[in-house]
Amino acid sequence: MTLASPSPAATLAGPTPPLLDFRNVAMTFPNGTTALSGVDLVVERGEFVSVVGPSGCGKSTLLRIASGLESASEGTATVNTDRIGYVFQDATLLPWRDVQSNVELLAELNWQPKRVRTPKAQWAIDLVGLNGFEKHLPKQMSGGMKMRASLARSLTLDPELFLFDEPFGALDEITRERLNDELLKIFVEQKFGGLFITHSVSEAVYLSTKVVVMSGRPGHLVDTFEVPFDMPRDPEIRYTGEFAKLVGEVSHALREGHS
Ligand SMILES: Nc1ncnc2c1ncn2[C@@H]1O[C@H](COP(=O)(O)OP(=O)(O)OP(=O)(O)O)[C@@H](O)[C@H]1O
Ligand SMILES: [Mg+2]
Repeated sequence: MTLASPSPAATLAGPTPPLLDFRNVAMTFPNGTTALSGVDLVVERGEFVSVVGPSGCGKSTLLRIASGLESASEGTATVNTDRIGYVFQDATLLPWRDVQSNVELLAELNWQPKRVRTPKAQWAIDLVGLNGFEKHLPKQMSGGMKMRASLARSLTLDPELFLFDEPFGALDEITRERLNDELLKIFVEQKFGGLFITHSVSEAVYLSTKVVVMSGRPGHLVDTFEVPFDMPRDPEIRYTGEFAKLVGEVSHALREGHS
């Protein structure tokens, strides 16, 4: 099979720039704490990049800079899209709103009319497997269901760059694995660029096309691992020797970077 050659327009336009391009990014807070130094990081469309690193090494700071919530104090932090999704460790749902209206919230804040945002929210609710729970309030939902709702809320913005700050860190292992599979399914369908923070090396390897390891504070990248397993990913891959070997290598780099 031969690959189609690019259209003349695509040739003239040149290659699409990466979604996220950090060069020599450093962050020193006004109180003098240097959280990051010399960070070079690229996320392309269709890449899922996980970041692992010790607590306090600047991972959340990295995401905050990527989202525009914080500005780098040195270097260039380029993000080539304004469609950014952000999922936090806590689901951050409004307790008085049901699933449907929590999922509609971001679209509502973006002034989308109801006739547009309601079907969009329904689409996202279906995608995360929450159909049937539209009228449930957060207090009636499990931790995993709340994270699904949080994911759905971000999906309504059709993010091109999706940022995740340890979204499944508080969940039990079985729920986390299930949500990892759901997220991978959505990633394969939506083809966004993902930047995912986690403390779990096996979660990082399972979800990602690339895993980067950060040093202790001030955080910088000490190692990068390409993940060779195909997408969509077979859940059984988790139990293979090849998977265990890569998890071991990333864990080793993490320990070295920490010492
Ligand atoms: N606004 C701020 N002002 C001063 N220091 C800050 C600020 N935000 C974060 N820090 C410091 O910067 C460092 C990195 O914080 P950050 O939250 O990015 O770490 P992290 O890698 O996400 O940690 P964890 O894994 O525990 O979530 C920490 O030492 C933290 O105390
Ligand atoms: Mg953090």
